[in-house]
Amino acid sequence: MGQADKKWVAMDDYIVDKFAIRDAALDAALADADKAGLPQISVSPAQGKMLMLLAKAQGARRILEIGTLAGYSTIWLARALPADGRLITLEYEPKHADIARANIARAGFEKQVEVRVGAAIDSLPKFVEQKAGPFDFIFIDADKPGYVDYLPWTIKLSRPGTIIIADNVVRDGGVCDAASTDANVQGIRKFNDKLAAEPRVMATAIQTVGSKGYDGFAIALVK
Ligand code: SAH
Ligand code: DHB
Ligand code: MG
Repeated sequence: MGQADKKWVAMDDYIVDKFAIRDAALDAALADADKAGLPQISVSPAQGKMLMLLAKAQGARRILEIGTLAGYSTIWLARALPADGRLITLEYEPKHADIARANIARAGFEKQVEVRVGAAIDSLPKFVEQKAGPFDFIFIDADKPGYVDYLPWTIKLSRPGTIIIADNVVRDGGVCDAASTDANVQGIRKFNDKLAAEPRVMATAIQTVGSKGYDGFAIALVK
């Protein structure tokens, strides 16, 4: 990702402080991710809280996440769940999954959250086969070229009213460049094309700036 403008970082710091967004479990999750050398690509604190509020407003009882990393966004989403709610998060790297499980347990969600190791494209068809759906809220945040292939599976695992959110659909404004040679940009472009043409959803995208730089979310509501 590109640079985060000083002003965006200062404003994000202000928001995080004003709305009391950080806490010990979240800070520890990020600290342990850093210690283990994981990339600093978790959603920002303000974005995490926004995801939690959206999932909560929607009344989500079953949440699916694609791309766990250290479980930072996972913890936020789990906080939206009622006591009997469940979250499944998919992660390719066993090392990331191990760190995430420890972070999720420390945050108190060991019983409600399952970290499933494997390529998302292998796990998703299994969920359909096992009738693991429908999920109420789905967050896509794994490998960018994979998004376009995950979309039909997430819709199969949805019900009318399911919200699907995808991270990193702006990428420093690179995504509107059709000639981009960046595989991640082209992956996101294919995803946006498919999402925009998908008759089973209503969708938009919103640009964001902050401590994680300039990026954005796609938001889709399953009809
Ligand atoms: N959602 C996290 C950040 C996820 S970073 C947060 O905001 O806190 C993206 C993660 O997706 C990485 O941990 C990466 O290992 C994982 N990933 C990459 N390719 C994947 C694949 N094919 N299937 C599942 N996970 C994948
Ligand atoms: C990258 C991935 C992410 O999920 C993110 O939020 C930021 C950057 C990346 O792979 O570069
Ligand atoms: Mg992301």
